[in-house]
Amino acid sequence: MKDQINEIKEKALKAIEEAEDAKILNDVRVNILGKKGELTQVLRGMGALSPEERPVIGELVNKVRDEIETKIKEREEEFKKEALKEKLENETIDITLPATKIKRGSKHPINRVIEEIEDLFVSMGYDVVEGPELETDEFCFERLNLPKGHPARDMQDSFYITEDYLLRTQTSAVQARTMLAKGGNEPIRMICAGKTYRREDDATHSHQFGQVEGLVIDKKDKNVSLADLKGTLEVFVRKLVGKNSELRFRPSYFPFTEPSYEVDVTCFKCGGKGCNLCKQTGWIELLGAGIVHPNVLKMNGYNPEEYGGFAFGTGLDRLAMFKYGIPDVRYLYANDIRFLSQFDRKDEE
Ligand code: PHE
Repeated sequence: MKDQINEIKEKALKAIEEAEDAKILNDVRVNILGKKGELTQVLRGMGALSPEERPVIGELVNKVRDEIETKIKEREEEFKKEALKEKLENETIDITLPATKIKRGSKHPINRVIEEIEDLFVSMGYDVVEGPELETDEFCFERLNLPKGHPARDMQDSFYITEDYLLRTQTSAVQARTMLAKGGNEPIRMICAGKTYRREDDATHSHQFGQVEGLVIDKKDKNVSLADLKGTLEVFVRKLVGKNSELRFRPSYFPFTEPSYEVDVTCFKCGGKGCNLCKQTGWIELLGAGIVHPNVLKMNGYNPEEYGGFAFGTGLDRLAMFKYGIPDVRYLYANDIRFLSQFDRKDEE
C-alpha cells in the first residue's frame, strides 16, 4: 500500500508540475484529493489493514496530501503571478502616442465685441458697470424723462412682468442707476453692455438683443460738449468698425437727451460708394446719442446748472455684424457650431 501511495504522490507532483493552467491544476486536485480522488480511495481501503498498519498508513496519507496541497498552492501562486505579468504587459500605455484632440470652444462674436468696447473705454478712463435685466418702470422710463403715458414709450414695445417691473428695453436704465449711486456731485464716465428685450419678432429683430451704453457727466466746462461726444464716438467707431469710417450726425429724438442724434457710419461693405446693404446711401445707422437732458440730470440728483454730459447707445448685434461681416442677425443666436467655430482665438494668441 505504501508503494501505491508513493506512486500516487509521484504522479500527482508530476501532473502539478506539468499543469499548464489553473484549470488543469484544479483537475489534478479533484482527481487526487477529491471525494472520488485516488488518494481518497486509498483511505477508504484502510479498513482492510491491520490495527498496527493503520496509523502508519494514515500518517503517510496525510503527509502526502499535505505535500500535494502545498505544491498545488505554489503552482497556483505562479499562475497568478504570470497572469498579472501578462496583464501589465498588455495594458502598458504608450505615452508616445498622440493624444485625442480636445475641441476648444470659441468666444461668441458678441462677447468679443463687448470685451473690445470695454477695453477701449477703460483705456479712456471709463468704469464698466452693470445693471439688472429685470428692471423697474422707474429706471427704464420715468427717471429718463419718460413719465407714464408719454407717447415716446411706444418706441419701445416692452415685456411687462407686473405693472412696475419689465425686462429692460434699453441699457439707458443704467444711466439713472449710476447717477443716483454717485449722489450728484461726482463726475461719471461709464460704459455698460448687456441684454435688452423688446416685443419684436421679425427677420431683422429679435425679442432679445444686446446694447451698450455710455454716459459721461462732469462740470459743464469739462469736456462734455457735443464736440467731445463726436470725438468719443469717432474713436469708438474707428476702433471697432474700421479706421476709415466717417460719422454723420442726424437730428433725432430721445426723451433723455436734448439735442438728440442718430449717428450713421460709412457703410463697411462698400466704403460709402453705395450698395445693397446701405440701400445705395453709403451710410448705415449705428448709434443713438445726445446731450443729457436737464430733466434727467435733475431727476437723478445732478444740478443741470452746474453739471452737463453726453450719452450714447448702440446695438451689440449690429456692431458684431459690422465688424465680422455677418449677413443675418439670426446667426448670432442660432448657436450653430459651424458658425461659432469661425471665431476661434487666433487673434488672441
Ligand atoms: N437707448 C436708446 C435706444 O435704445 C439709445 C440711446 C442711448 C440714445 C443713449 C441716446 C443716448 O434707442
